[in-house]
Amino acid sequence: MDKFPVVAQAGASQPNNIQQHEPSTQASAQGVASDFDVRMMQRCLELARRALGRTSPNPLVGSVVVQDGEIVGEGFHPRAGEPHAEVFALRAAGERARGATVYVNLEPCNHYGRTPPCSEGLIAAGVAKVVVGMVDPNPLVAGGGIARLRAAGVEVLVGVETAACEQLNEGFVHRILYKRPFGILKYAMTLDGKIATNSGHSAWVTNPSARGEVHQLRAGCDAVIVGGNTVRLDNPYLTSHQEGVNNPLRVVMSRQLDLPTDARLWDTAQAPTLVLTQVGANPEFQKFLQQKGVEVMELPSLTPDAVMSHLYDRGFCSVLWECGGTLAASAIAGGAVQKILAFIAPKIIGGSHAPTPVGDLGFDTMTQALLLERVRWRVVGSDCLVEGYLTAKNQ
Ligand SMILES: NC(=O)c1ccc[n+]([C@@H]2O[C@H](COP(=O)([O-])OP(=O)(O)OC[C@H]3O[C@@H](n4cnc5c(N)ncnc54)[C@H](OP(=O)(O)O)[C@@H]3O)[C@@H](O)[C@H]2O)c1
Ligand SMILES: [Zn+2]
Repeated sequence: MDKFPVVAQAGASQPNNIQQHEPSTQASAQGVASDFDVRMMQRCLELARRALGRTSPNPLVGSVVVQDGEIVGEGFHPRAGEPHAEVFALRAAGERARGATVYVNLEPCNHYGRTPPCSEGLIAAGVAKVVVGMVDPNPLVAGGGIARLRAAGVEVLVGVETAACEQLNEGFVHRILYKRPFGILKYAMTLDGKIATNSGHSAWVTNPSARGEVHQLRAGCDAVIVGGNTVRLDNPYLTSHQEGVNNPLRVVMSRQLDLPTDARLWDTAQAPTLVLTQVGANPEFQKFLQQKGVEVMELPSLTPDAVMSHLYDRGFCSVLWECGGTLAASAIAGGAVQKILAFIAPKIIGGSHAPTPVGDLGFDTMTQALLLERVRWRVVGSDCLVEGYLTAKNQ
């Protein structure tokens, strides 16, 4: 049983059992979703998150099978190459899948990849209804799974908790649509807009709760990027600092390769490190890094887009930029950042030469400012977190 990531099965004592279907309350794109549907979709998202940071290039997907208002099977997609969430949920439900309603946060697939199509699996299991959180983002296959199910007489309801479903897989969606990983720029600054002191010292700008959030954020990303200066000045670990949780690939962009030999990033026992540099840079140091187990790669042009293109080829969905302002400006200008997470600490450090989160973007007037949309503010311990997306106009 351990082989299958099924987390709960039917049984009166299961805490997830929810009694009878409730009256319909929420209108959706096609059909009407009830409160019960919403709760089941939230459960799918919860299940999907169990594989956080491990599924790329595939999406995070969870699935629940409900028979007579009771959960009879659950599952999630654990990693690429393994069966999809619906397969695990149907296996857990067994015969009780017949006539059941299946919830899944992403449209069931309809093509033969490494595994057979889930649409066929659902039809073969004899399910009566499928509730889908969001349609497949790939324009070439979007709606195919839903159409196949409907053609076989399965009722399909689409668009329950869609915003939450889209956010959970924003990296996967961006990867499909733009052939690049989704870029998140995260920084911590003082109330007067500094990410370090005049001397470059930055440990710590924020409080422990905010740093805990950053560890969580890393767990959901495939790679985290810094530049050479951050390695020289901060000597970071860039790990998730938690047992059994995903550690992203730690990526250093350095043109000169004039880096310390005792950096924490060269210890690859906990997490792998990749150093990206320019052709011909410091061959001696490249050799030293390779002996330490660090992967080194020379790129003809060390730009944020070339790096993101390489990380796309590695199958990555989400990449976290944890660099200083110079590289951050270059990443934004190069279209490698889609989302910003700014932690703001209520402290003032001053310093006319203290570094700020984003270096020169070449703008002269305030009207040129990059605008964020879908902005949210939240208190994290004693700090404030501002989240938002760069608008399409900026890209
Ligand atoms: N509070 C925070 O959130 C936070 C986060 C990170 C850093 N920091 C602080 O930020 C300061 C460092 O800032 P920084 O801007 O120099 O950061 P950085 O993250 O070190 O980025 C700059 C370095 O990136 C490398 N690089 C490679 N390709 C590049 C490209 N295309 N464009 C630009 N840079 C490229 C260069 O390394 P080489 O010189 O090796 O060639 C360059 O010196 C430190 O004081 C650190 O403490 C604060
Ligand atoms: Zn599938």
